[in-house]
Amino acid sequence: MQERSSFLIVANRLPVDRVGESEWRRSPGGLVTAIAPVMQRRDGAWLGWHGAADEKLEPFDYDGMHLIPIPLSALEVERYYEGFSNATLWPLYHDVVATPVYSRVLWDAYRRVNERFAQAAAEAADEGAVVWVQDYQLQLVPAMLRRLRPDLRIGFFLHIPFPPAELFCQLPWRREILEGLLGADLVGFQRPGGASNFIRLSRRLLGLPHQKNEIHVDGRVVRAQAFPISVDFGEYDNLVRRPEVIARAKEIRAELGDPDHVLLGVDRLDYTKGIGQRLKAFGELLAEGTIQPGEAVFVQIATPSRERVEEYRRLRNDIELSVGRINGEHGILGMQPVQYLHQSYTRQELAALYLAADVMVVTPLRDGMNLVAKEYIACHHDLRGALVLSEFAGAADELKHAFLVNPYDVDGLKRAMVAGMRATPHELARRMRFLRRRVSTYDVNRWAGEFLSALERPSTVQPLASAG
Ligand code: ADP
Ligand code: G6P
Repeated sequence: MQERSSFLIVANRLPVDRVGESEWRRSPGGLVTAIAPVMQRRDGAWLGWHGAADEKLEPFDYDGMHLIPIPLSALEVERYYEGFSNATLWPLYHDVVATPVYSRVLWDAYRRVNERFAQAAAEAADEGAVVWVQDYQLQLVPAMLRRLRPDLRIGFFLHIPFPPAELFCQLPWRREILEGLLGADLVGFQRPGGASNFIRLSRRLLGLPHQKNEIHVDGRVVRAQAFPISVDFGEYDNLVRRPEVIARAKEIRAELGDPDHVLLGVDRLDYTKGIGQRLKAFGELLAEGTIQPGEAVFVQIATPSRERVEEYRRLRNDIELSVGRINGEHGILGMQPVQYLHQSYTRQELAALYLAADVMVVTPLRDGMNLVAKEYIACHHDLRGALVLSEFAGAADELKHAFLVNPYDVDGLKRAMVAGMRATPHELARRMRFLRRRVSTYDVNRWAGEFLSALERPSTVQPLASAG
């Protein structure tokens, strides 16, 4: 029998991905970025998929974390992960910026895989343990787990936006999803709007009463609250003070031909990130002559993501076409205005890129938070650098001193990029000071600490015995 833990993270992904026979690589995305440092500081276990299909692995330790792999078959990867998670829920929860697929076959797979995660968590959790379930791929797990183990304290955190009723109600399985989430004691969201959407939907679809942010269900009280996620500020702040990172940042600028302005985008290659919009804006600035080739270089790093999902394939083609077009029209021999890299980098190399960049361009059409924006801020103790940030990223709530933009407004985007490039050092320092104050105070440890202490704190509201 495996050892049981008093603290469990349950997420679709483990923090590492299997590549090749015995090699591991850090998994992509903001969830892993945020949870890994929390886990490294606590004793406990992390349950999740290790990124390869049709393979059963034994629990193992990695980078100070105890990991319990959950197997997925190739068909489950297709239907639960690529299908219901990323072709149904992902676009639906991101303002339907792509059209969601509604299919009963995908839903069945989602339910079955959620059941497997709940079973595994029930087996791995010690009596009275705290279990923290993560994100949209596992929204049924809280209720399934509660049925198996009513002794546990169950938290859930949604890393992506929670949509308003007008969108959520499209989902044929809307009641089941709400009931799944309501199995938790505490449901966390990135923004207060997500929490109030959830409370309103619980009343409207399930008839559940609430007092402020506490919902009465089955004689229990479920709290719904916003906890804006963050980054490990100290890690990046330390990295950019290291001589080798400073040297690498200088080298990057030199390799780019020492332009006056380095603009940077760092994203998973995802249609929610507004990569096409920012490239269009940059292309127009070159075409109009507002910026000259050689004066500015746009570096776009786009980590491969969900490559077998149709919309992601199409996006990759569109982006590569538009990079080719801009470089074809505005490049000069030996100098391409857009440097596009479809690759994943180490945190050290990312830190050097952030440090080298004069303007960070973060333009999602919708985003739960966006940690890249916060990482950039953590890398600028030099108070240099401008952050152009979409008002549709969760991060915009906190980062009011960024150059805020509506990514659908190409002219506005162009103005913000130019403003970032032309701002005086004094103006940039003023903004960066505010931004750093916020991110250094509300870092990922504070986020996890606040969530977990709220989870461990019993509600002061008396449950309504008859509710639910
Ligand atoms: P999402 O969670 O949607 O991917 P976030 O901006 O919140 O978006 O988080 C992305 C995370 O992935 C950040 O921590 C960022 O550093 C990391 N990341 C993005 N692109 C790359 C890349 N090319 N190489 C390595 N890490 C990356
Ligand atoms: C976002 C999601 C995470 C997900 C990550 C990477 O951050 O909120 O749940 O893990 O993207 O996506 P992937 O599909 O590769 O796990």
